[in-house]
Amino acid sequence: MNWNTRITDLLNIKYPIIQGGLAYLAYSELAAAVSNAGGLGQITAMSLESPEALRKEIQKVKQLTTFPFGVNFAIGQHGRPYTAYLDVALDEKVAVVSVTGGNPTPFFQYLEGSNVKKLVLVAAKRQAQKAEELGADAVMVVGQEGGGHLGKDDIGSLVLIPQVVDAVLIPVIASGGIGDGRGLMAALCLGAEGIEMGTR
Ligand SMILES: Cc1cc2nc3c(=O)[nH]c(=O)nc-3n(C[C@H](O)[C@H](O)[C@H](O)COP(=O)(O)O)c2cc1C
Repeated sequence: MNWNTRITDLLNIKYPIIQGGLAYLAYSELAAAVSNAGGLGQITAMSLESPEALRKEIQKVKQLTTFPFGVNFAIGQHGRPYTAYLDVALDEKVAVVSVTGGNPTPFFQYLEGSNVKKLVLVAAKRQAQKAEELGADAVMVVGQEGGGHLGKDDIGSLVLIPQVVDAVLIPVIASGGIGDGRGLMAALCLGAEGIEMGTR
């Protein structure tokens, strides 16, 4: 089976499967295991106590895998200013950053001039369109069933994902309630080009 989509091309991964940011759960070991298995692992930056702690986690992942991995930023969620963490991610030349939980405009402005890949996790069609306008490389769309859901619209993944696929041109990564290969296939049928998995 050929799993190539615009997401595998964009992120340089074998399977279109992204591990979600998971505050206080997603450290170097998990990120490296996912990346070694052919997906995209992510370290969750904003629940780490300091930018230097993030640097240590990034350096640990680099010891555990040669494959790409990402750093996730739930901005506005943990009472920590994110720019110093972002500086570390850029300095360590991570391939991908993802952002959620707040307005991505200043985050994207901060990244101007960098060639890091930018993913935005959204929970509504209008947020996906905004992410596209701002220059996101891909948008991750999470339905109400997603763990740790921050959305306000209460729309399930099965309804929301095709709405977003029809509303943007950038590739869509489906999230929320996807727990196995059947969920991956269903997401691809809905027009998504990859999935994000958190707790299922
Ligand atoms: C305990 C917990 C913590 C989370 N922390 C983050 C986070 O820091 N950043 C983020 O982008 N998403 C976070 N999420 C959302 C997940 O990345 C993902 O979008 C969600 O779990 C997908 O739905 P699923 O759980 O049905 O797979 C969190 C989810 C949970 C359950």
